[in-house]
Order: sequence, then structure tokens, then C-alpha cells
Amino acid sequence: MTQTPVVFTVFPGDCDTFGHLNQAAFLSYFERARWAMLADGPGMDLFEREGVWPAVRKAAIEYHAPAYPGHSLRFQQVVTRLGRTSFSMRQVARRTPDETLVATAESVFVCVDRSGAAVPVPAGVRAFLLTSLSTAVTPQRRVEVNGVELALVDEGSGPAVLFVHGYPLDGTLWRHQAGALPGWRTLVPDLRGLGRSEAPDLGYSMATYADDLAGLLDAIGVDDVVLVALSMGGYVAFEFLRRHRPRVRGLVLADTRAQADSAEGRRARELAMADAREGGAPLIADQMLPRLLAQSAPDSMREEVRGMMGSAPVPGILGALAAMRDRPDSTELLPTLAGLPTLVVVGAEDALTPPADARALAKAIPGARLAEIPDAGHLSPLEQPEAFNRHLREFLGRFGAPPTDG
Ligand code: MLT
Repeated sequence: MTQTPVVFTVFPGDCDTFGHLNQAAFLSYFERARWAMLADGPGMDLFEREGVWPAVRKAAIEYHAPAYPGHSLRFQQVVTRLGRTSFSMRQVARRTPDETLVATAESVFVCVDRSGAAVPVPAGVRAFLLTSLSTAVTPQRRVEVNGVELALVDEGSGPAVLFVHGYPLDGTLWRHQAGALPGWRTLVPDLRGLGRSEAPDLGYSMATYADDLAGLLDAIGVDDVVLVALSMGGYVAFEFLRRHRPRVRGLVLADTRAQADSAEGRRARELAMADAREGGAPLIADQMLPRLLAQSAPDSMREEVRGMMGSAPVPGILGALAAMRDRPDSTELLPTLAGLPTLVVVGAEDALTPPADARALAKAIPGARLAEIPDAGHLSPLEQPEAFNRHLREFLGRFGAPPTDG
């Protein structure tokens, strides 16, 4: 979960002779923020009670902007992976109140016993960390668009990147990307009917989803975006391009395809609709889960994805299935995208939209680049965030260096 933020004020003694907050002090701020998160939750003595110690095994910090005495820094943290004996965490430090991204830290911890040997993450710690995984992105805004309230995570500042999730998922899919692109404003909505957006009974189509996104941009005063879309999000992106092309500066298509459903595919949508009516979202989650992730995906990720799908509102599931069943074929659109910087990304183990499809997609869009991500299935940005973000940052670099901040 994005934990309750912790705010520290930078003291002169924490700074170097040029007045910048120094690295050693920064490390201790990150550490204090982690303990504050425990104090705020199960108690600072959680690990002691459980008889283990979380030893830091790896820490990578990126510094994006300086901080000076008197600045207030807000730290937020999220658990990004939970393994058998280890877990990982991402922390973000921003200046308040202007929200400048100052530093991000990725750390890996191993639970050790008194002799220093790695031991399984105890149940009490696991339970706490799992809650931290499940609500990783908290929408701060609700925006009314076309008569429906959409949930939106709006972080950072600069030119905008708009992320569109797949089915039957929500913006949590992009939790490793939201707010993690220095110099860019990241916009992560939940599509109507999914996640924490309102779920009307009727009115779902690719055109409605695309117009919702355009309406959302109007409502928050954003003219154009780099559009990053996964799977069904890609189908929405194609429709967005047909209807609102001047608003797209660049395109990232992840784990998606341009073809419409085959006759057999349309029948499968009908069956899935009947299942959703009968067994609700949990049944759909059970059916989809086995094909979504790479073989090596940890159980915690499976639980997270199952939770995301299993809590989708049934009207939104039915609406999305109908919208996908009825979507037009977009293959003829692809050659017309010449001149639009495009990146196609695919998980090497994607069973739903396999790498061969991604290669064909990239080939059909003049000038498009292709990135294949090892050890990822259909949900590459969630499964392998570091690799996905590296490709994304490299791609965004084409639009000029992000503004630096002093
Ligand atoms: C998705 O991930 O958005 C869907 O699986 C796409 C589809 O079913 O065509």
C-alpha cells in the first residue's frame, strides 16, 4: 500500500558544504521512514516479536533533485515483491508542497535469524507486507467524465504520460510506473466499470473508453500525452488514435494486438459473460489467472493479481467483454501511424498476446521499436518493472531530456 506518508524537515547538519542534503543523511531518512511505517502499523517491534531481522541485502538509490535546509521531504513506500525469505520495497521522496521528485530507493531485505542465516518471512510479517502489496496505488482524485466518476492517480509534473490498463484489471497494474518517471506527469486512471471508478450498467464500448480518456484530459487541462497501454488498454489506444490522434505524442503498446476477435473469440466472450453473471468476478479471476503471469511469478504476485481481478465490479466486466467482442479490427490503422514514435513491449512468456504477435505489430507500424522482456508474461509492467521502466525511460528520452530541477 502507499503507506501513510512520513514528512521530515532537512536540517543544516544533514547537508554538505554546498548546502545539499548529503547521501549519508538521505540513507538514514529512508531508514527512518521505514521504521515510521512500522510504528504507524503493526508496531516497531514487529520483527523482534517474530524472531527475525530484516537485513538489507541491496539498495539502489536514484537522486533526481537536490534538497536544502528547511525543505520538507515527504516519504512514501510500497512493498513491490514478497518472496519466501525476502521482500523488496520502493520508496519515493518528494519535496512538499511542490511535489518535486527528489529521490527514489529500491531495497531488498532478507529475513535472517540470530546467526545471520536466511529464514522464511514469518506469518505475522508476511500478513503485514501482503496488505502493503494489495492497495499499492491510491487514487487521489475522482474526476467526473461523461456522467461517470473516474478514479485517477495523478503524480509528478511535466509533460504527461497516460497509462491505460487491461481487463479485468485497474490502475494498480501501473503501480511501478506511477510517479516513477522524473520530469513527467504520470496519469493512471481506472477505466469506467473497473477498479475504483464508477461502474454504470450500460454504455461500454471502445469509443466510450476512448472518449472518457479524452474527457479526463480536458477536465484536468492536459492537451497531449504519451499513451502507454496494455492489452485491452491497447484496444482503447487504437480507438483513441482514430478519434483523438492530435493528442498523442508517442505510443507504447504493451502485450496487445491489433486484430479484432475471431468468431471463436467472440463466442468465448459470450461464455465469459455468462460465467461473470453466474460466478461473479472471483470466477473470472480463477479462469484468467493461470494464463496471465510468467512461470517464475511469485505467489504474492499471483495473489495480488487475483485480488485485483476478483474485486472488479460485474457490470464493468460485462461491459468490457462486450466492448472487446465488438471492437473493430485495427490492423489498417497501423501503417497510418508513420511518424508517431512507437514502442511495442511484450513479455517473453506472454501466453495471451505472444511475442510473435508483438513482432508483427511492431513490423506493421513504420519505425516502431520492439522490446521483449524476459521472465514476464502478459503483465510485463507489473512482473518486471525494472526492465519495463528502463525501456520506457529510454523511449521517453526521445522527447527531450526531462526538465531538471534545482
Ligand atoms: C486484457 O488483458 O486486457 C485482456 O485479456 C485482453 C483480451 O482478452 O483480449
